[in-house]
Amino acid sequence: MTSRSPSRPSRHSSKRSSRRSRTGLAWALPLWALPICAVLAANALPTLAHAQNADAQALRTRALAATCAQCHGTDGRVASGAALPGLAGLPAPYFTEQMAAFKAGARPATVMHQLAKGFNDAQIAQLAAYFAASSQ
Ligand code: HEC
Repeated sequence: MTSRSPSRPSRHSSKRSSRRSRTGLAWALPLWALPICAVLAANALPTLAHAQNADAQALRTRALAATCAQCHGTDGRVASGAALPGLAGLPAPYFTEQMAAFKAGARPATVMHQLAKGFNDAQIAQLAAYFAASSQ
């Protein structure tokens, strides 16, 4: 009753032929998309690299600032009434000036004249921006 006609292709062979045509399409797509991908990548890569550099720089600055936390509190925030001054919210020019004064010995200090000598101008500028942006 349900006998197959001999001319009908077997399941196996029909599957194979449809797979072959799908594969053909899959290969065709990347070929025409290649120039578009190249343009997209060329535009996106510098942005990505820039974002990664910015992240790495932000991490380095946080690591520098963390060395101050022991005395000046996390992110420069001290408890009210603390013996040491907080750094959070200090204006960047004031901060930079104080660090330079510590370095030069122009501002008398118990610790900071030694500590400040360990940082170059670029690091002090990064710290100044970091603490200026940290809310009290
Ligand atoms: C071991 C404790 C200690 C550490 C760590 C420390 N400081 Fe200080 N800091 C002081 C003390 C104490 C003073 C007050 C001046 C003095 O006697 O040295 C001070 C003062 C300052 C001042 C002046 C604040 C003001 O209101 O005038 C700045 C700016 C400063 N520190 C920045 C830093 C930075 C940036 C770091 C981290 C890189 C740091 N300090 C790490 C102890 C420390």
